[in-house]
Amino acid sequence: MKVLVAGGAGYIGSHCVRQLQAAGHSPIVVDNLVFGHRQAIAADIPFYPLDLGDHKAMVRLLDQEKIELVMHFAAFAYVGESVTDPRGYYENNSVATLRLLEAMLDVGVGKFVFSSTCATYGEPEKLPITEDLPQSPINPYGQTKLDVEHMLKAFAHAYGMSFAAFRYFNAAGAAEDGSIGEDHNPETHLIPLVIDAATGKRENIKIFGTDYPTPDGTCLRDYVHVDDLSRAHIAAFPLLENKGQQLFYNLGTGKPNSVREIITAVEAVSGLKVPLVEAPRRAGDPPALYADSSKAMRELGWQLQYPDVTKTIETAWRWHRDHPNGFV
Ligand code: NAD
Ligand code: UFG
Repeated sequence: MKVLVAGGAGYIGSHCVRQLQAAGHSPIVVDNLVFGHRQAIAADIPFYPLDLGDHKAMVRLLDQEKIELVMHFAAFAYVGESVTDPRGYYENNSVATLRLLEAMLDVGVGKFVFSSTCATYGEPEKLPITEDLPQSPINPYGQTKLDVEHMLKAFAHAYGMSFAAFRYFNAAGAAEDGSIGEDHNPETHLIPLVIDAATGKRENIKIFGTDYPTPDGTCLRDYVHVDDLSRAHIAAFPLLENKGQQLFYNLGTGKPNSVREIITAVEAVSGLKVPLVEAPRRAGDPPALYADSSKAMRELGWQLQYPDVTKTIETAWRWHRDHPNGFV
């Protein structure tokens, strides 16, 4: 299939582009490079440096490239910034997505795959998190993603659009061959920051909160390999052949790991000591978030190739060790 990957130069999108190629699809990337890296996309992949809000250009692109399905990874995703400066989040995550969906309607492209997040659940009522739990985000980032989920339901109902919305837990790891990996600027995610502390690129890692009601007092998260995420997306394509499909899936390993466990795992994988500092809680962090992904496994035949966080960290470690300055 000819697949437009919006945000395909970013971390998860660029890994998905490779998985699409491996599965025999033809990816075409659109990315305004506000984040993301041109070098993350192979030279033979068609690349359009456009903003999703540019309606005319998007309509032209969808039409000329004869796009059959759109995968949408493009968004702003700094939770803290979304609280202090929400305008750009509503603009880029909610409004730009509406523009993209409008362009799809104008051209008659009816299949859509969306990057949602477990942040739409806020502080969950129970664990592990199943898709039917109430969604009440505790920050504007999560709210913008929930807004899009609602928009998609309405578009499926009214216009027969088919979509799969994937609620990722913590995306982690890098391509097995070490050629691409995570390079956010600024970086806020735990695993790359711990690796930077191990290699001396950062002075230390701050543990945000050691008094949570968890076994070792630090937050529990569900770190899922970026290639496992991509494979779930592609596995949903056949289901989107039917008009008006509305699919929601959690994607995580189901295995919670604490911040301290991640630090210990990075030390074991790298053979280096990680200097750490115990710091106060970070605002807006729920104590524990981990997925029940049995729906994706049952309905999509999704299987984890990285069920163990140590294997995921090994791939991240290789990428960071061999590319200490990321893509530059
Ligand atoms: P990323 O920042 O690495 O990638 C996003 C890409 O989208 C960037 O290359 C950026 O340049 C591009 N982009 C942003 N706005 C654009 C616009 N208006 N027009 C064109 N391009 C635009 O982010 P990521 O970590 O790869 O995350 C991908 C998606 O997954 C995001 O939607 C994010 O909210 C979601 N998500 C990520 C995680 C995680 O752990 N990284 C967890 C849950 C959900
Ligand atoms: N953490 C630290 N020190 C750091 C960075 C993080 O202790 O320097 C802790 C956090 O407090 C949290 C855990 O490590 O407990 C993971 O934090 P990340 O920032 O790596 O990830 P989050 O769980 O906050 O956020 C990620 C994605 C979001 C997504 C969210 C859903 O970044 O896009 O998962 O929970 F919405």
